[in-house]
Amino acid sequence: MESHLKRVVLGVTGGVAAYKSAELARLLVKAGLDVQVVMTEAAGHFIGAATFQAITGHPVFTSLWDERVDNGMAHIDLSRGVEAILVAPASADFLARLAQGRADDLLTTLCLARDCPLLVAPAMNRQMWENPATTRNMYQLGLDGVALLGPDTGEQACGEVGFGRMLEPEELLDALLAWFQPKRLRGLKVLMTAGPTYEAIDAVRGITNRSSGKMGYALARAALEAGAEVTLISGPTGLKPPPDAETIQVVSAQEMLEAVEARVGEVDIFIAVAAVADYYVLNPSDNKIKKDAHILTLELAPNPDILANVTALPKPPFCVGFAAESENLEEYAELKRKRKHLPLIVANDAREAIGSDRVQLVLMDDQGRHVLDTADKLTQARRIVAHLADLYNQRYP
Ligand code: C5P
Repeated sequence: MESHLKRVVLGVTGGVAAYKSAELARLLVKAGLDVQVVMTEAAGHFIGAATFQAITGHPVFTSLWDERVDNGMAHIDLSRGVEAILVAPASADFLARLAQGRADDLLTTLCLARDCPLLVAPAMNRQMWENPATTRNMYQLGLDGVALLGPDTGEQACGEVGFGRMLEPEELLDALLAWFQPKRLRGLKVLMTAGPTYEAIDAVRGITNRSSGKMGYALARAALEAGAEVTLISGPTGLKPPPDAETIQVVSAQEMLEAVEARVGEVDIFIAVAAVADYYVLNPSDNKIKKDAHILTLELAPNPDILANVTALPKPPFCVGFAAESENLEEYAELKRKRKHLPLIVANDAREAIGSDRVQLVLMDDQGRHVLDTADKLTQARRIVAHLADLYNQRYP
């Protein structure tokens, strides 16, 4: 995964969720980051420093008076060259001390002496989280520019259910990387289609295709990370919608078209990723069609071209299309781009792209072709967002 982040401090404070920080440290290292763990003394009651040392390959620091730091200034030394401090879990007590600007242990001192973003992932019992003192502290930390990741709601270690659960390590990694993405689409509204459509034959059967929706969902996420307001109109996929997008689930191409038409007037950018079925079945049966020995003929009629309808509007938004081809990729994609009047089309090999996690893409625009080397779909989505943001800014400086 591409990241602008290189070095981070992972702060671990005294909460049961500290056991999950080991997994978080592992994921951060796996994402290519250099991770320096700093624990509070209380954290040591929940997890051992040796675990973090083994995972990160660096000694763990806890004390301001640690003699391993040559100049005796661990709080300065450890934060030098660091691009972010992430504290996970952040206990109620730690957040209270942070809100007061205290420097009574190494981690709070490091936070006070930092010149990089500070992100905290609270983890505490539901009543502690709901206590007015914690609310007050969180409000203050918000004013001080501290970024808040979570907490989530759910089952807690104490057996209660409610807010205060730390985000899962995977979610924290995603949130950290997302936070550092350049905000190239800030203030813009993006409408997208994704996934396949499903055209009913009868009550239980239909025509669809193998589109997984992964590319569209990754693009929705990349656009959100870039600061856009995102509406995702999705065919049936089984994927979890990005939490911060408005997601509208549809089934058929006709429903997708109606959902797009209802919203397209309000947006700056429209990205058509969906693999819309080219045909629908005329007169689908309300009941399940019974099997018999005869040949069954289905009558198919062409579906509307959603993207072409949008580009034909008197004042269309900035439109991006996708072209999945199994031969003559760039030639066909460029023809499609011209025919649909698109400033940008993303071309991919249909056989390679469908359902897979890693793809090679070619972006085609008025300036020519730009190859995006094989990478996972989120990385590709971030590259597409960067490219389209450049084109959008050239067009609407
Ligand atoms: O013509 P073709 O289906 O290959 O064009 C692909 C592009 O057009 C994709 O961006 C796809 O989402 C969009 N499209 C559409 N409605 C259709 C067919 C394709 O929006 N009925």
